[in-house]
Amino acid sequence: MAILNIITEENEILRKTSKPVDGVTPRIETLLDDMADTLIKAGGVGLAAVQVGILRRIFIIDIGVEDGKNEIIEFINPEIIKKSGKQEEVEGCLSVPNKYAITRRPAKVTVRAENRKGEKFEYTGEGLFARCLCHEYDHLDGILYTDNAIEMLDPEDVE
Ligand code: NI
Repeated sequence: MAILNIITEENEILRKTSKPVDGVTPRIETLLDDMADTLIKAGGVGLAAVQVGILRRIFIIDIGVEDGKNEIIEFINPEIIKKSGKQEEVEGCLSVPNKYAITRRPAKVTVRAENRKGEKFEYTGEGLFARCLCHEYDHLDGILYTDNAIEMLDPEDVE
């Protein structure tokens, strides 16, 4: 278990495309454990492997965050298989500190992925978690939420 360094936007690794995971090795398991520690410490909702410098198609989200507890879901080789509705809400990113923006995202998103045992599962997120699934998925393709933001906000107006 370790807290990893979160890479910020000036580092061009964030612009690279992550590669699929070909089997969960002990190294990947350690990465997943460390990513969870790092996300919880940072107080974020989601974290992609590229944000800690590993170009693999992995992200995690904490679906317990709104209830003040931590419930991490691990997504390996995720694919977005369904989107519906739309929302325009405030978004931020641990790799883009002290910035927020309004983005346009689907209201509901279903992702199919593998867990660390290699089993396929589907997860549907709404509201905050729909935004988060899209945001983390974009990280795997080198996209930052600021690329498509419809309005950047003054950080003092958010919180
Ligand atoms: Ni992010």
